[in-house]
Order: sequence, then structure tokens, then C-alpha cells
Amino acid sequence: MIRLAIPKGRLSESVADLLHRSGYDCAGLRNGSRRLAFTMGDIEATLVKPSDVAVYVEHGAADIGVVGKDVLMEDEPDVFELMDLGFGACRMVVAAPAGFSDDPSRVLRVASKYPHVAGEHFARKNRAAEVIELHGSVELAPLVGLGDVIVDIVETGTTLRENGLEVLEEIAPLSARLIANRSRYHFIRTAIERLTDPWRARS
Ligand code: PRP
Repeated sequence: MIRLAIPKGRLSESVADLLHRSGYDCAGLRNGSRRLAFTMGDIEATLVKPSDVAVYVEHGAADIGVVGKDVLMEDEPDVFELMDLGFGACRMVVAAPAGFSDDPSRVLRVASKYPHVAGEHFARKNRAAEVIELHGSVELAPLVGLGDVIVDIVETGTTLRENGLEVLEEIAPLSARLIANRSRYHFIRTAIERLTDPWRARS
């Protein structure tokens, strides 16, 4: 058996497509049920909060999982990153209200759901920054004076645009990744390869 952690929400449909390619019946994933654990052939799937996938895998509660690169950058879990799955493409960026100009004599206030990524980014640039951690609607922060800039994910750019913000710089391109528990990987490597071979063919 392979224990697979699937992120609930926007990536789950793409995971169902991959599993379908490998010959699995994904009705349990697509039927809108509230069940959080189900079996598909030799896969025991769990549906978990996207930011928790790597926690399940790192601690061995799942053998493999699908997770956004943003979560890996922020949490730096001790797991193997096996594969770029090619979907969920977006960018981690610094953004600010249109016309923003940085005053290097002041500490930059940065609002973000990704305090570690944001802190590291400005430390690398030797820019003094105070990071304010938020858990959502980050684009609102500079509009209400909670931070000068934000570090966040941009997919279509609509949220930035509709809130009068623009990208100042790109930190990293992002997409969904397949991760594996470090010790379990060695025992189930063949089964993982059997599962993922059809994914490589078209990615
Ligand atoms: C993410 C991200 C941006 C938005 C970007 O937020 O934090 O707010 O999506 O998408 P866009 O470029 O296509 O507009 P999410 O939808 O996860 O909601 P949240 O603000 O509650 O975290």
C-alpha cells in the first residue's frame, strides 16, 4: 500500500487527474463527499489541509504527498522532493501599492503569510525588514497601513490588480511538488515509480 496525502482545495482536482492517468478510480476524490480518508486500489488516500501535507509526510503519517512549493519554502520540512508535477503554477513575489518607492533609511514593513520566506528574502538583500505575519487577505494590509509591501503568491494577478498593488520583484516560481517520507521512500520506491511513471510521460 502507498499512503498518499492529497491537499484539499484547488490542487485536488489535478491530483485526481494524475491518479486517473495511473489507472485509479478517483470517484472518492471527485464526489464532493466530506470523507477525509479512502482507499483506491493499493493507495490509501487522505485529504488534508494543504499546509499540513508535508507535516503528515515528514512524520510518516503518509508515505508521499502533493504540496505547493510555497509550503516547502516556508516550512522547509525534512522530506524528499521527488518531482515537479507541473500544475498549480504561480509566483512568490514582493508587491506594493502602485507608485511605491522604498526609503532605505527606514525599516521596511512586510506583511505576509510566508514570514520565513519574506524574512530570508530581505536578509539576503541586506534590507532591514519587520515581517508582520497574516493568515489571509494579505493584499489588504498595505491599503490599511499594515505594512509597506507584501510577500505573497500571485497566480492570475487579479487580486493584486483589484487592490491597486503591483509586483516589485519575483522571489521564485512555484508549482505543485510530489514529496516522500525519507525513510519510507527506500522501501516503496518501486511502487512510487509505478504510480508516477505515467505522470512523467506527459509532464
Ligand atoms: C492566494 C494568494 C493571493 C491570491 C492570488 O490567496 O495569497 O491572495 O491567491 O491569486 P490571483 O493572482 O489569481 O488573484 P488565497 O485564494 O489562497 O486566499 P487567502 O487570501 O485567504 O489566503
